[in-house]
Amino acid sequence: MAQFFKDHWEFLRQFRERFETTGAIAPSSRFLARAMTGPMARRDRPGRILEIGPGTGAVTQRIVRLLRPEDRFDLVELNETFAGLLRGRFVSDPHYRAAADRSAVHVCPIQEFAATEPYDIIISGLPLNNFPAELVRSIFETYFKLLAPGGTLSYFEYMYVRPMRKLVANASEKARLTELDQIANGYLSKYRVDRSWVFVNVPPAWVQHLRNP
Ligand SMILES: C[S@@+](CC[C@H](N)C(=O)[O-])C[C@H]1O[C@@H](n2cnc3c(N)ncnc32)[C@H](O)[C@@H]1O
Repeated sequence: MAQFFKDHWEFLRQFRERFETTGAIAPSSRFLARAMTGPMARRDRPGRILEIGPGTGAVTQRIVRLLRPEDRFDLVELNETFAGLLRGRFVSDPHYRAAADRSAVHVCPIQEFAATEPYDIIISGLPLNNFPAELVRSIFETYFKLLAPGGTLSYFEYMYVRPMRKLVANASEKARLTELDQIANGYLSKYRVDRSWVFVNVPPAWVQHLRNP
């Protein structure tokens, strides 16, 4: 329980210091973590797993429990405070420690991450709705460059956030949000295989699941 409050406090601190990239006031709920890891839990063979934007590890704590001995697990986190906290957990927490020999935390933006091989499962917590359209375009390109054929990408977004923001946005912000809609919808219409609705989260969220054909 103490860990839960510590994580929430650190998350809030990072939100205040780095609003744009942290993108939320609280870590994801365990219901959202469960939905994000659905394809990982259902897979029928070991593989390469990539988590992008793990933050304080709200989803990571479920991933490490689902890892198999033959899996490889990489985490890419931009924020060095979050990365340090996660590295510490691979030493101190028994569930993380059990996966430490086949896991690595990389501190860099995902657009600059040099992967050695593509991934079968990508789980992303990036706050795309906060980013400029060009960055979102390049992040989607990166997702699909990193995703193996037949691999699954799962990412979340807060429900109805773009239409709600548009209601109060000025003209340039509206144009940015419309462009984000177009970029995301382009990928979703081609590659989406499922969408999970998660109401027990602040705020409620959708998880989009896409498959690389
Ligand atoms: C909304 S938080 C999600 C944290 C966690 N996955 C969760 O669900 O509670 C977004 C995370 O993405 C990280 N992030 C933002 N931009 C990034 C980028 N370009 N590359 C890697 N991580 C990034 C932030 O530092 C933050 O930890």
